[in-house]
Amino acid sequence: MKENLPPPEFGEVLPAAHPSPQAVKMLWLRRSTPADFLTEPGPDAATLETILTIAARAPDHRRVTPYRFVLFEGEARRRFGDALVEVYKTNEPDAEEARIECERNRFLRAPIVVAVISKVDRDHRTPEWEQVLTAGAVCQNMLLASSAHGFAAQWLTEWYAYDEGVLKALGLGEHERVAGFVYIGAATQEPNERARPALGDLITRY
Ligand SMILES: Cc1cc2nc3c(=O)[nH]c(=O)nc-3n(C[C@H](O)[C@H](O)[C@H](O)COP(=O)(O)O)c2cc1C
Repeated sequence: MKENLPPPEFGEVLPAAHPSPQAVKMLWLRRSTPADFLTEPGPDAATLETILTIAARAPDHRRVTPYRFVLFEGEARRRFGDALVEVYKTNEPDAEEARIECERNRFLRAPIVVAVISKVDRDHRTPEWEQVLTAGAVCQNMLLASSAHGFAAQWLTEWYAYDEGVLKALGLGEHERVAGFVYIGAATQEPNERARPALGDLITRY
C-alpha cells in the first residue's frame, strides 16, 4: 500500500471509534509469519516510517515514551550477524560451523528488523510494569501496522535478546531491555491458523 495518510495534528479532534469490517477481518485473521518464511521486498523508507509512527501511537501512561527503536536494514543486518557470531563463539567455543552460519544469517531472514527497546524510567511516577507493557503494545502495534500495509511480520526475542554480550553490542543502557525484534517482509508461505485458547478458560465474572 503506497498511500500514506498525514499524521493527525496535536489537538485535532479524532473519531472515537473506527468501525471497519476490513479492520475487524484483519484482527480476526492476523497471524505471524515465521522469520524463515520472510523475504524481499520489505517496506520502503516512507512506509517503514509510517509503520514506526503508528507503532509509537501505543497507549503510554503519563507519556513516558519508555521505548526506542533500533533499525537493521541492508548491510547492517550482516554486520549485526557478525557481532552475533562473535558473542556466540565466546559462549560456545565448540559451536559447529552450521550453527555459526545460522547466527551470521539471522537478521538476513527479513529485509527489515526493528529492535524495540524497552527503556524504563525508574524515577518516573508511572510504575515500571506499565512502562514495560507500553513497549509490548508498541510491538503489537507494529505487527498490525505492518499487516495493514501489506507486510508479513514476526515478533521474536530468541537467545540474543537476553545475552549480555549482545546487549552490549547493541549499546543498551542500564534500564533498557529488548522487548522484541520485529522482522518485517513479504511472506514466502502463508501461515495456517494455530491453536487458540478457549475463551471460556480465560473468563471469569466478578
Ligand atoms: C515477547 C515475545 C517474544 C517471542 N519470541 C519468540 C521467539 O523467540 N521464537 C518464536 O518462535 N516465537 C516467539 N514469539 C511468538 C511469535 O511471535 C508468535 O506470536 C507466535 O508464533 C504465535 O503466532 P501468532 O502471532 O500468529 O499468533 C514471541 C512472542 C512474544 C510476544
